[in-house]
Amino acid sequence: MWTGNEQTAERSSTAYRYRWFADNEARETSPVYAALTASISDDPEVLALIERLPEPKRQPNLLLGAVRLHGGPIDDHSRFRAWLLHHWDQVEGTMRSRSTQTNEPGRCALLLPLLCSLPQPLALIEVGASSGLCLNPDRYRYLYDDRPPIGPSTARVDLECETSGPVPFPEGVPHVAWRAGIDLNPLDPADPEDVRWLESLIWPGHHSRHQRLRGALETARRHPVRVVRGDMVEKLDDLLAEVPAGTTPVVFHSAVLPYLPEAERREFVEAVQERSCHWISNEAPGALPYALPASAGHRSREFVLRMDGHLMAMTAPHGQYLRWLP
Ligand SMILES: C[S@@+](CC[C@H](N)C(=O)[O-])C[C@H]1O[C@@H](n2cnc3c(N)ncnc32)[C@H](O)[C@@H]1O
Repeated sequence: MWTGNEQTAERSSTAYRYRWFADNEARETSPVYAALTASISDDPEVLALIERLPEPKRQPNLLLGAVRLHGGPIDDHSRFRAWLLHHWDQVEGTMRSRSTQTNEPGRCALLLPLLCSLPQPLALIEVGASSGLCLNPDRYRYLYDDRPPIGPSTARVDLECETSGPVPFPEGVPHVAWRAGIDLNPLDPADPEDVRWLESLIWPGHHSRHQRLRGALETARRHPVRVVRGDMVEKLDDLLAEVPAGTTPVVFHSAVLPYLPEAERREFVEAVQERSCHWISNEAPGALPYALPASAGHRSREFVLRMDGHLMAMTAPHGQYLRWLP
């Protein structure tokens, strides 16, 4: 007898997860990853290896990042498969010890108009900061559409961002008087192994993202930013207590909340709303407990930019565009 659980079981299976990733995550922007993950979803031997890992460690991004870290071939499934079966112990070791910590400085182009709209100078706290590259928004140069560049001419990173809607373009970068981050596992921009991991997490073919990452890491090595090790809910108050007088505290995050169990996510949202700080979030639509109105016209893979919980804009996941809402 069919109990209704079969469909749920199918959806939670590793095969379904890899097929879903191929069709919904990778198809548009990385044909190489789409082809590999589609083949994995039909490969019982490879799926059995992946299923030796705990459930949260079975992510396609983690597997593919680990394979690339160890120099595995990714352009042909047979070669990929043969290599993976031979090097599984190495790949498994990396998947167990690392996690997906993609750090995308391009997201600063999404935050900039909001940061500049607040009373200056700012005290920035990024939760889920990875290697802290989004804590340097005043050290990058911004190219919005065909507008004159914003930011220091000496910047090592140019962030290109297409816009639409009534974006409140700033005249310059924000004045950041103090900054710090929190991460479960801060990555060090000066550690060659951490840098190799960050590079392995960028999908093949995303050349401009590699270039941005290198420039932002170089910036971070010149201007080291403190990222405290720990859980964002537990450490938030410690950092808020350090914010210098006379600055505007801003807590922000992007692509972080899905990593938190639902109860902790709720706890964080309640905590940040109760503190006297501004709060900027750039997350996938379901990550916050707010409904998205149909008028937002959400497109596949778009993030939602909010300030103090209010809907401001829809954004591209890596900062490629900013769609300000009226
Ligand atoms: C996908 S990365 C995003 C990094 C950065 N926010 C960005 O937009 O480039 C998510 C980061 O959140 C961190 N993280 C996940 N859960 C966390 C928690 N409970 N407390 C602190 N950091 C956490 C992970 O370690 C990882 O570095």
